[in-house]
Amino acid sequence: MAEIAQLKWVVACNVDDIDEEDVIRFDHGGATYAIYRLEKGFHASDGFCTHEKAHLADGFVVNGEIECPLHQGRFDIASGQPKSAPVCVKLRTHPVRVDGDQVMIGIADKDAA
Ligand code: FES
Repeated sequence: MAEIAQLKWVVACNVDDIDEEDVIRFDHGGATYAIYRLEKGFHASDGFCTHEKAHLADGFVVNGEIECPLHQGRFDIASGQPKSAPVCVKLRTHPVRVDGDQVMIGIADKDAA
């Protein structure tokens, strides 16, 4: 049976900190995350592209996908699935919940500091 990782919920930002169809960077516990706001809500992923070490928060949100600023590879924001070369490794996503005006991300306990 697969082990279920404990989640630690961390406040990443306020809802007003991100415009719709945009992304910001969030650093926590030595790791970097990207927090996205789409029309239907918020999402989170690891902050670095899986191709090379580029900050996805410096990229562009286009039609539910994040375009990496370095080589323009794209990932589906909700699932992390690669959508456009040269990216071919899935981007790790993280659960998000909104509590009042705070956007919180669930970080696996081994990643939480
Ligand atoms: S570093 Fe992101 S596509 Fe190359």
